[in-house]
Amino acid sequence: MSQEIAITTIAGIARRAGSVGRVSGLDFSTNDYLGLRNDPRVRAAAIQGIEEFGVGSGGAREVAAGTAIVRELERRIALFKGTRGAWVVQSGYVANMGVVPVLVGPGDFVFLDRQNHQSTKDGALLSGASVVVYAHADPSALARELKRSAPRAPSKTLVITDGVFGVTGEIAPLPDLVEAAESYGATFMVDDAHGSGVLGRGRGAVAHFGLTERVAVQVGTASKAMGVLGGYVTLMSDEILGRFADARPITHSTAIPAHLAAACLAALDDSGVGENFRMARHAWLALAEHLREFADRQFHRPHQRDDAEPGRIGKRTEDVERVRHVAYRYKDIFISRQRVARGTAAR
Ligand SMILES: Cc1ncc(COP(=O)(O)O)c(C=O)c1O
Repeated sequence: MSQEIAITTIAGIARRAGSVGRVSGLDFSTNDYLGLRNDPRVRAAAIQGIEEFGVGSGGAREVAAGTAIVRELERRIALFKGTRGAWVVQSGYVANMGVVPVLVGPGDFVFLDRQNHQSTKDGALLSGASVVVYAHADPSALARELKRSAPRAPSKTLVITDGVFGVTGEIAPLPDLVEAAESYGATFMVDDAHGSGVLGRGRGAVAHFGLTERVAVQVGTASKAMGVLGGYVTLMSDEILGRFADARPITHSTAIPAHLAAACLAALDDSGVGENFRMARHAWLALAEHLREFADRQFHRPHQRDDAEPGRIGKRTEDVERVRHVAYRYKDIFISRQRVARGTAAR
């Protein structure tokens, strides 16, 4: 058994790559960071949920089958994240589209990192607030923009950053961004789709920096480290929590099915995210040893990285081909073609 396979088996990352049949190995192509998508406990919970509640939810939240399971998931997510409460919705995209208009509206301001995920940008557009884009991961640029807008912003101001930027694996400089936001009285929100399950003992980038009390809103997704599908919003204020009940994705769209919520509960279980997080970390450290020498020689890598060990390879065709060659040599490593094609091999 090759070392790579041994590592992945330990981590539970070994998985079937659907597009290439039943092959196990290291999968750099998906966001299933902890290998939970095929975890037997998570699968069993989903199957039991289908047996009990059916495949679909049958309607919007208030009438949906299995709402009690969704509520239990919300309770557990809030407990895990250390927040006042949580709402579970259909996806991370929907979570962002739903929560931004709850926080700001016409006449307000929303500040976005240039490289934020599209869903926070779309949420900002839907809100009708004035959108200001600041330079990527740059707290001084944010402070400058906040200062510039201050005289025009008598009402609410919201700052949104990704916790971990999905394409490069960079961790946002959250302590300095929070500092800047606080000095202008802005509400701070982190879209932690990629940090959750990976950083802060699985609790995410906000917990990693010890900032839970200072970040009003966090958005997460069940479709990455949890290996399922769904999204959630965690909040530090009961008042905002209450207002989220009227968010359009809640009132105008069919709720997440109970079996997905059941699968998320299994992924969050002590034997789920916690255990897989610990094992995956060992696996990544071991894998990093494998790849580091090659990566340092060939890749230009961002200075700040999370466990994903991203490799920026530039846009030159030869670079792309070289990475493909390495992926081929290791055989059991899958690298996302899309991201390679865009000049970056990450995850
Ligand atoms: C930073 C970020 N936010 C939100 C989302 C949307 O999450 P979901 O796939 O659950 O809709 C993604 C997914 O690509 C993401 O990378």
